[in-house]
Amino acid sequence: MTIPTGNGAISSAPPRRLRFTHDRWMDALGLPIYSGYYIEDMRGLQLGRWEERGCDAAFIQLEGQQGITETRVSEIPPRAVLPPVRLMFDEVVYVVQGRGATTVWRSGSERKSFEWTENSMFLLPRHHFHQFNNTHGSRPARLLHYNYFPLLLSASPDPEAFISTNRGEAGEPLRQLDLQAMYAEPALKTTSSEEVTWKRGHSVWLGSFFPDMSAWDKLTLNQGRGAGGRSVAMEFPGSEIGSHMSMFPSRTYKKAHRHGPGRAIVIPTGEGYSVMWEEAKDKVVAPWKPGSLITPPNRWFHQHFNVGEKPARYLAFHPPLQFDGHAEKIEDRARDQIEYVDEEPAVRERFEAELARRGLTSLIPPSAYTQRDFEWTPAAV
Ligand SMILES: [Fe+2]
Repeated sequence: MTIPTGNGAISSAPPRRLRFTHDRWMDALGLPIYSGYYIEDMRGLQLGRWEERGCDAAFIQLEGQQGITETRVSEIPPRAVLPPVRLMFDEVVYVVQGRGATTVWRSGSERKSFEWTENSMFLLPRHHFHQFNNTHGSRPARLLHYNYFPLLLSASPDPEAFISTNRGEAGEPLRQLDLQAMYAEPALKTTSSEEVTWKRGHSVWLGSFFPDMSAWDKLTLNQGRGAGGRSVAMEFPGSEIGSHMSMFPSRTYKKAHRHGPGRAIVIPTGEGYSVMWEEAKDKVVAPWKPGSLITPPNRWFHQHFNVGEKPARYLAFHPPLQFDGHAEKIEDRARDQIEYVDEEPAVRERFEAELARRGLTSLIPPSAYTQRDFEWTPAAV
């Protein structure tokens, strides 16, 4: 397998052993399919015409996503209103570029419209129609879509059964949602006893529309991954699609770790790179900035480095929990996370060299490299 260089790695056939119904469906549409380990800038990605959806689009199938999660980019021309589409599965949308509005409804029922801008994140609920509208007069809008459609097609390999562009009444939705409440402000997830729910050390927020992930500020210290980084989890009510965002300070890097496949990571703010590798194999270096997309392959270690002058944020969309791997369990940490004291000196050397090229120096305290239980304090970010 060749190691691609981000943008430009178009492949008509995914570089893999198995082909799934979802692969055949993508091929049949004739849209570009980008493969590899990362996309350096989705804003510059060449797209193809998708007549049925009235827009240009491309699939991004990075290593490890095959048969599990789908990511694709679509572009809405200035002032355009796209045709209504109804999906029988949940889809999360992240706004890579531009601004616009989305209307969500079910047949014969109320409609909910909301406006989005760059770095907005929202859910398109299954069994509901959605319609996109670019509200800008001259700029196209670029959206990143994330869903579990490949898994659905493995269970029931009939693509036409799950996507409808027909306004008709056939196949009435099974769900009765309160769309006004659903797209209201996200809320901190609580248990029935009104206690705050914590998941893997994050606080968890429930919502269907997050207006700006570059400014979302409900993060809490994530001691385990180092660098004084903070994180937060977002869940979409009634959906299994999960996500989390981490923010870590300028001139620091997080500990290497690994887990299961199918995550998609976007960068709301910051500049840096990630190193990804399968144990004892060659490393892939993925540079990132706003507009980048990264997927750590199944059980590959990966490590995120902030070489910019500002805090960096990465936002990860998760596959179903069955694919999560075991990285978050305490007993597996020794196998699935590399502490600073155990890492190869080359990791620190590359980081310091990258900073030096920018006239910067590392802010990782020297004692973090010598004290296994080094305690981070929340960074002033
Ligand atoms: Fe990760």
